[in-house]
Amino acid sequence: MNFQMINQTRERKGDHIKICLEKDVQAKRITTGFEDIFFVHRALPEIDREKIDLSTKLFDHKFSAPIIVGAMTGGTSEATKINKTIAEAVQELGLGMGVGSQRAAIEDAKLECSFAETRKKAPTAFLIGNIGAPQLVQGWRLDQAQIAVNMIDADALAIHLNPLQEAIQPEGETNYENALEKIKEIATSLSVPVIAKETGAGIAAEEAKKLEEAGVKGIDVSGAGGTSWAAVEYYRAKATLDKKDERLGQTFWDWGIPTAVSVFEVSNSVNVPIIASGGIRTGLDVAKSLALGASLVSVSAPVLRPATQSVGQVKETLELIIEELKNAMFLTGADTVKKLKKVPLVVTGKTAQWLLMRGFHPETLARQGSKDRSKR
Ligand SMILES: Cc1cc2nc3c(=O)[nH]c(=O)nc-3n(C[C@H](O)[C@H](O)[C@H](O)COP(=O)(O)O)c2cc1C
Repeated sequence: MNFQMINQTRERKGDHIKICLEKDVQAKRITTGFEDIFFVHRALPEIDREKIDLSTKLFDHKFSAPIIVGAMTGGTSEATKINKTIAEAVQELGLGMGVGSQRAAIEDAKLECSFAETRKKAPTAFLIGNIGAPQLVQGWRLDQAQIAVNMIDADALAIHLNPLQEAIQPEGETNYENALEKIKEIATSLSVPVIAKETGAGIAAEEAKKLEEAGVKGIDVSGAGGTSWAAVEYYRAKATLDKKDERLGQTFWDWGIPTAVSVFEVSNSVNVPIIASGGIRTGLDVAKSLALGASLVSVSAPVLRPATQSVGQVKETLELIIEELKNAMFLTGADTVKKLKKVPLVVTGKTAQWLLMRGFHPETLARQGSKDRSKR
């Protein structure tokens, strides 16, 4: 890897943060589908809101609430500050976080310390490392994955799947041949659990099954309806007068599987834990994700600006989401996360239609009040 390429990786990461902070990169015509999911209101919740227990155990780790901050960045001084701020906040709140792609630091060991700072600020929080599937296709093996884990003493490693973004980037790496086989090599040998993670376009049941068979221990669906990577790349292309990628970014701005659909179909197809992400903006979205079968819920974009400000701002953002989650649990009469996973749901509109077309029967959820969807 030459110096110029390493610099390009870092510059790209810097561009991504700047664009996400300054431009509207949210999905426009596609939504998460959470607006189609309804809880049945309990006029008699028969629980005390103050006694609601949000604690969750997953991957042998106890979370104070089933919420993490999703992978965003690393490798530059600004990125280090962002990660450290998030790390301090999740440590204080008993949550977890993912760091952004560690590619730059694997290519240039001088950058490792920028990621290592994250663990220093979050000595006991659940930390997820991050590498990309395209790098595996290009030859990365277990060694590089283990470097990523060791760099932050990670509790798990996410391998991100981002074909949409790569297909629109001018420097995009669009070779995904045998990516599954490479993921398998790492998932079956790494010292920590491997999580397969999309980046905003969702994961379908078919891929989820293959990933489970390949040995991944968790799936972060990162569906459509939130941050659009086609949109981010659209703005990069526009700035460099790259007409082709500008056009591609616009055309594929709303590409993907809505998050609610992805959570439903993946959680009904595999037995590994599901992380819901992509457009999670409120604690009500968190509650719906958990009720649809997710074990953890991950929020990225809403935390980015607060993370450029202060630990207090990040904590405030997350605490509001936690309060909303508690409210949803109170109003559905669920005083534990386990009970929330069993409450009946009504799936309507576009989301119900989408699931029916995919061979799932969302109407069964309404009658499933007693069925435990917390198989994990
Ligand atoms: C600024 C920024 C940088 C990101 N970088 C990464 C990354 O390096 N690796 C990754 O797996 N996902 C990355 N993501 C994707 C998020 O983890 C998440 O899947 C996606 O943004 C959807 O969630 P959201 O709608 O809450 O933002 C990034 C997101 C943002 C906003």
